[in-house]
Amino acid sequence: AEQNRVLRERLMQLKKERNAIILAHYYQRDEIQEVADFRGDSFLLAQKAAQTDAEVIVFCGVHFMGESAKILAPNKTVIIPDERAGCPMADMVNVEGLRKLKAQHPGATVVTYINSSAEIKAETDICCTSANAVNVVNSVEGQDVIWVPDKNLGHYVQQNTDKNMIIWEGYCNTHDMLTVKDVEEMKAKYPEAQFVVHPECRPEVVALGDFVGSTTAILKYCRDSDYQEFIVGTEDGTGYQLRLDSPDKKFHFASKYLVCPNMKVNNLKKLVKCLETMQPQIYVPPQVAEKARLSLERMLQVK
Ligand code: 13P
Ligand code: SF4
Repeated sequence: AEQNRVLRERLMQLKKERNAIILAHYYQRDEIQEVADFRGDSFLLAQKAAQTDAEVIVFCGVHFMGESAKILAPNKTVIIPDERAGCPMADMVNVEGLRKLKAQHPGATVVTYINSSAEIKAETDICCTSANAVNVVNSVEGQDVIWVPDKNLGHYVQQNTDKNMIIWEGYCNTHDMLTVKDVEEMKAKYPEAQFVVHPECRPEVVALGDFVGSTTAILKYCRDSDYQEFIVGTEDGTGYQLRLDSPDKKFHFASKYLVCPNMKVNNLKKLVKCLETMQPQIYVPPQVAEKARLSLERMLQVK
């Protein structure tokens, strides 16, 4: 505790010196969410990065999020606590494969989940996050949509749109691990609880949801609901904001495996160190960034 107090003090000092803002995803460790200037899901964080006046953005999340911040705010310095914090789902699609699919479906619009590399975004017509995926897909012209890389979210969107979706086979290792058996066991144990679930989970798990939505949508639903008990089908870092919003409600994570190891690579010590050394910095080659920016800006304009 004493060590963390010293770290937090140093952090406050460095933040002022560098004119930095600390952005943290809801899946980060509590010790990071506690000191963040702004917490959010992928969508809110991208929006915040695009709007901030700070000179330095410290992005506590995974690599693609830092990259998206840099693409949207090219004149700012974007640093991250540890460059090993990647997203395995983002690595499941490569440029060559996407180009091949585009050649097979020349009329289709490419909609890419923000969990993807800058190179993939540069090959994309419009990005989306789990918070706006259905609206983004519905907003595009034409009937055919190439969807990368999350098959589970793609399946969920397909059920909520009339578009014809050509779906890539990627998935989130963490959310995809949750099974129907896990959820059924939890429902038997907590019969009064509502099951809230992220659409990155498998379709058969999502089908069991009393509520399905992005991280922010789940947080809002639980906060505003009259129900007092929830089984939570998303990453366990969300517990920080859930408990902050509703200290008297009960939250049970649907499985002990709902922990993204990549998100947890970051910690308070590394956060302070990156502000001290201003390393590692996110760099996106300008030609890639320019194309990728269009796909992100189009997303930010969708209502
Ligand atoms: P959201 O932040 O859009 O809920 O996405 C979840 C996720 O897995 C981020 O990596
Ligand atoms: Fe990637 Fe899943 Fe971790 Fe999000 S929770 S960063 S999608 S692996």
